[in-house]
Amino acid sequence: MAVLTVRRYGDPILRQKAAPVTAVTPDLKAILDDMVETMFQQVGIGLAAPQVGIPLRLIVMDDGKRGARPLVNPAIVERRGSLCAEEGCLSLPGIFGEVERSEWVRVEALGGDGAPIAFEASGLHARVIQHEVDHLDGVLFIDHLPPVTRDRIKKRIQKEGLPEAAPHHAFAL
Ligand code: NI
Repeated sequence: MAVLTVRRYGDPILRQKAAPVTAVTPDLKAILDDMVETMFQQVGIGLAAPQVGIPLRLIVMDDGKRGARPLVNPAIVERRGSLCAEEGCLSLPGIFGEVERSEWVRVEALGGDGAPIAFEASGLHARVIQHEVDHLDGVLFIDHLPPVTRDRIKKRIQKEGLPEAAPHHAFAL
């Protein structure tokens, strides 16, 4: 296993649409293991493959039980409710904003072993999944902020750059 370099805002791969995975091969499982290691090393609770330079539809999430759940080709097939809460992103260290997300989602994906899975998630887990699936479509959480707030953040990044080491925070995705 290896810790991968997390790409930062400004890297074009973060704006690409990631390609579906066609087969869960040993190489792909190795990538998922590296993503899990990278997520924990970065003290994140979710990570999408484009964030480590891999343009494939793969995400990993903290399962809240000191483990990680890998999802291949995740799709949100149903959503309900809405909830506003603060988010951050490992690719935008030091930047946080209130994002409105669905409160409940139903997800279909392949697990790390390639078998189809379907599950429901709510609250924080639902938020993490929506944030990570956005990454697979080239969308960042700042895209969901009001334009005035987003412009202020973009100007701040242009002027000051992003901090080298992100302060640890509970919502780095
Ligand atoms: Ni993120």
